[in-house]
Amino acid sequence: MVEKFSKNFFLYLSKNKVLNKGAKKWGLKLGAAQVVAGVSIDSVMKTVKHLNDKGLVCTVDHLGEFVLNKEEAVESTQVCIDTLEAISATGVNCNLSLKLTQLGLDIDRQLCIDNMHRILEVAKKTNNFVRIDMEDYAHYHVTLEILDELQKKYDNVGTVMQAYLYCASKDLENLKGRSLRLVKGAYKESTDVSFQSKEEIDKNYLAIIKQHLLNGSYTAIASHDHEIIENVKRFCAEKQIPKTQFEFQMLYGFRTELQEKIAAEGYTMRVYVPFGKDWYGYFMRRLAERPQNVSFALKGLFSK
Ligand code: FDA
Repeated sequence: MVEKFSKNFFLYLSKNKVLNKGAKKWGLKLGAAQVVAGVSIDSVMKTVKHLNDKGLVCTVDHLGEFVLNKEEAVESTQVCIDTLEAISATGVNCNLSLKLTQLGLDIDRQLCIDNMHRILEVAKKTNNFVRIDMEDYAHYHVTLEILDELQKKYDNVGTVMQAYLYCASKDLENLKGRSLRLVKGAYKESTDVSFQSKEEIDKNYLAIIKQHLLNGSYTAIASHDHEIIENVKRFCAEKQIPKTQFEFQMLYGFRTELQEKIAAEGYTMRVYVPFGKDWYGYFMRRLAERPQNVSFALKGLFSK
């Protein structure tokens, strides 16, 4: 009950446009620096290098929410391009994650597609891969449609499937053979479209992971849940699915020891490293997922 209240409270805060705007001016506050790798490309590259040295590969995400004008969408696109160039110049082992709303999806679909083309051209030139994060259900179908269109021209782009959606397993069948990140799902969705209980979501999560792996498709299992991770390791060993067909992913600043242990066992362990001034919505969603993370925020309140 308290957990559900706190989850809804932080999800509500994550969507507050006034606070989102204000936070851009504050710099990293409330303990966000523990889960966000600075505000500049330089700072995130340093973090990625440090993680690479520990045997972890990365994906970086330039944080951005509520992009509602063309200039901001073009600016975000340019940061994605500059980030890909910086990855190539520094030689770090890292790809790029992004959100279509950052590139103007809510303003003009074609603008967003054009921006994706610009980014994917640079990714192709620098031999890199771009993962489109999955946002709320309102953007779900359009994201899959845009992915379909982009994949006609590019093979270096993929997206994410959320296990809380009833339609996940059915839609996965149409994505056979494609690289996907599989997650439980981070947004508040209605009972019309999504499972609500942890038991149902966990059950469907394991089911879709196994389905995608058995289809022979590259699968990124993005979860901090050690039970899910152990289950996947056992399943892959039993079915002789090679370690090159899947990877684990976790967020920067979460379960660091477990990340290093998984990498030391010879699995690909990718850390999702967010950066940028727009940290507020991302940070609130992390607090919603795990009330224990509030201790980050409380410590941050009392530190300089
Ligand atoms: P969950 O939060 O259900 O935790 C399960 C159990 O794991 C807990 O009960 C606890 O035992 C343990 N645990 C979890 N966190 C812990 C911690 N910090 N310390 C100790 N124990 C811990 N969502 C989305 O909708 N679209 C997207 O594109 C993405 N992308 C994405 C990328 C990556 C790399 C990750 C890791 C996650 C996402 N997500 C996402 C978020 C995802 O949907 C989900 O909301 C969170 O990962 C939380 O679910 P978990 O599977 O991590 O476990």
